[in-house]
Amino acid sequence: MSNIEVHIELNDKTTSVGTLYSHVRRGRESSTFRYEAAYIAVADAYALEPEMSLSLGEHAFLNGLPRSFRDSSPDRWGRMLIEKGLRQQWAEEGLPARTITEVDYLLGTADISRQGALRFKQPGNTEFEAVTSEVPKLVALSKLLSASHKICKNAQNDRSTLAAVKTLLDAGTGSLGGARPKATVVDVDKDGHESFHIAKFPHAEDKWDVMRWEKIALELAAIAGIKTPENRMINIDNSSVLMLKRFDRSDTGKRIGYASAMTLLESEEGETHDYLDLADILAEISDVATKDLNELWRRIIFSLLINNTDDHLRNHAVLRHVKAWRLSPAFDINPNPDLSSQRATSIQGETHFEKGWQAANDTHEWFGLSQTKAAEISAKVLSAISQWKTVALRYGATKQEMSLFQPVFERALSTARAS
Ligand SMILES: Nc1ncnc2c1ncn2[C@@H]1O[C@H](COP(=O)(O)OP(=O)(O)OP(=O)(O)O)[C@@H](O)[C@H]1O
Ligand SMILES: [Mg+2]
Repeated sequence: MSNIEVHIELNDKTTSVGTLYSHVRRGRESSTFRYEAAYIAVADAYALEPEMSLSLGEHAFLNGLPRSFRDSSPDRWGRMLIEKGLRQQWAEEGLPARTITEVDYLLGTADISRQGALRFKQPGNTEFEAVTSEVPKLVALSKLLSASHKICKNAQNDRSTLAAVKTLLDAGTGSLGGARPKATVVDVDKDGHESFHIAKFPHAEDKWDVMRWEKIALELAAIAGIKTPENRMINIDNSSVLMLKRFDRSDTGKRIGYASAMTLLESEEGETHDYLDLADILAEISDVATKDLNELWRRIIFSLLINNTDDHLRNHAVLRHVKAWRLSPAFDINPNPDLSSQRATSIQGETHFEKGWQAANDTHEWFGLSQTKAAEISAKVLSAISQWKTVALRYGATKQEMSLFQPVFERALSTARAS
């Protein structure tokens, strides 16, 4: 059994929250968590997730870690880096290989760039896990990008791939979720103000310039009135890299609590849910519920029309705002050129485009919207989407890419106009 101290950044201070006990028995990992009485007494203390109410006593998890801690752990890209790094470390130290646990991933994640407000420490240690050097500056992107290319192209663990893994892990790039290669870097704005950004990289298997089209989608989303993080696309060694300002850090660099929709809905990887469930939970936990519900409906309409079908529960999240949660800015919105693909999160049970469109339009009241207000939102989204060619060309979309995505936007415009 291992014990891990859990801390949180709250009201500008790092406060101890409680202890996580993790157990592996017969290959099965489970955990229990206990809040500290002192945390429960802190002003503005909050339950880390719906399944762990703020009370003394034991919260047991039969399947791995509490979901809020999984939100602080990496997803596919970071897990792959941590796994390769650990195997290499064990080989160098002559230690036998063993199964990698959820706790390994949690503690292998760089503290400095860890998602959200939680921090983790091994009892007796003074520093938070995992200790890495500083977050790299923008100038390091070329080196990080080439290391990530090397890993994406090469499944073998040869010397140069392992060196690339080390470069990325040392730079703390494994801390974020998602499957795409990415890194946290420090960017400096025109006033010299530094802030953490996510740099999303191309993947060797991309069939079009995915980062360019994510940028185009973000631009259209902003025109449609959707809240998006500050972002820009840069060219590094002839690759499009999407820079997104991190919304889980304040302007003064403080950590902001983060919870994915997967955590909020007490869901598991691969389970599907419905936007109406997400709306219900937002209505419960947000202190600006009407605003958040309206925003969610706007995002559903936009996602439908641009065919953003990979809208799974880790692609929606809330941020802690003083005494409540609020919907985070939108992220990971990408047009999918396959018109027949089904969305990951259903709309009143519907995952196909036409029925989903009908369901979204039938359920606007669930999102606190009158018919008139819903029509206003649809009109604004439609007007944004009608600018797709101009925006795509502004970001250098090629002729082939324009033809690839034309059917998506044509379907959007004809559907929206017909209703
Ligand atoms: N601007 C941001 N600020 C803070 N955290 C963010 C931001 N954008 C994304 N994230 C976090 O990073 C994670 C990974 O980002 P994103 O979903 O864009 O990556 P991805 O690799 O494309 O994901 P997927 O595997 O869903 O395709 C998200 O799940 C979210 O937790
Ligand atoms: Mg994602």
